[in-house]
Amino acid sequence: MRKKLVAGNWKMNGSLTENTALINSLTRQQSRFKTVQVALIPPFPYLFQAQQLLTSTNLSWGAQDISTEPQVGAFTGEVSASMLLDFACQYVIVGHSERRQRHHETDQEVATKAKIAIENGLKPIICVGESLVEREKGETLSVLYRQTDAVLNTLSLPQLQHVILAYEPIWAIGTGKSATAQQVQEVHQALRQRVAAMDWVAAQGLNILYGGSVKPANALELMSLPDVDGALVGGASLVAEDFIAIIEAAA
Ligand code: PGA
Repeated sequence: MRKKLVAGNWKMNGSLTENTALINSLTRQQSRFKTVQVALIPPFPYLFQAQQLLTSTNLSWGAQDISTEPQVGAFTGEVSASMLLDFACQYVIVGHSERRQRHHETDQEVATKAKIAIENGLKPIICVGESLVEREKGETLSVLYRQTDAVLNTLSLPQLQHVILAYEPIWAIGTGKSATAQQVQEVHQALRQRVAAMDWVAAQGLNILYGGSVKPANALELMSLPDVDGALVGGASLVAEDFIAIIEAAA
């Protein structure tokens, strides 16, 4: 049985004061979500705060990105794996569509980030997803396979066991428009089969999260799908009661 993971991607939101309030509201309720893994993903400057407030709770934390550079050095604006480990991160998101689009990250860069994360004991949450134009042209699976194959071809077989995939259709992110249950299950099943072709055991243990306008109203339906193993939640993760409702839907 795969244990579901619900991760809250705060994106560029939060402040010291708001984060304390949000984290305290979540940790007060933590006894309600023992059967689900929960992770908070704040912006880099708040990782120290996350570590301070979440150590010895049921909740984990992680970062929104990592450098493609394996070692520290002269890379202005970049954050290394070793720095994330200094703040006891367990997870790191790589290849979020906002980074692929705004920062022109390539499939290979995303795969390199995933590899560096795993080599440092971090679990990469690797985002893949198609645009609306690609979906309408019938290219959904070919786009997702191209993005996923870059990762599969970069990692060694043992490293595949540490991968977390997140299917995030770009047209569903922050739009209030979630993919339908059928669309989600179809893609998740296809992604699992893609990984199974390389390593059947890794595919059975693989957590595939869905992301894109997950909210209390649609969480139960999405989290009940056979190949959905959790959620990557943006907007709704900033509201304690909504995030808790989504966690409970995954429990
Ligand atoms: P959303 O974002 O839940 O606000 O749609 C999801 C994501 O981008 O990870």
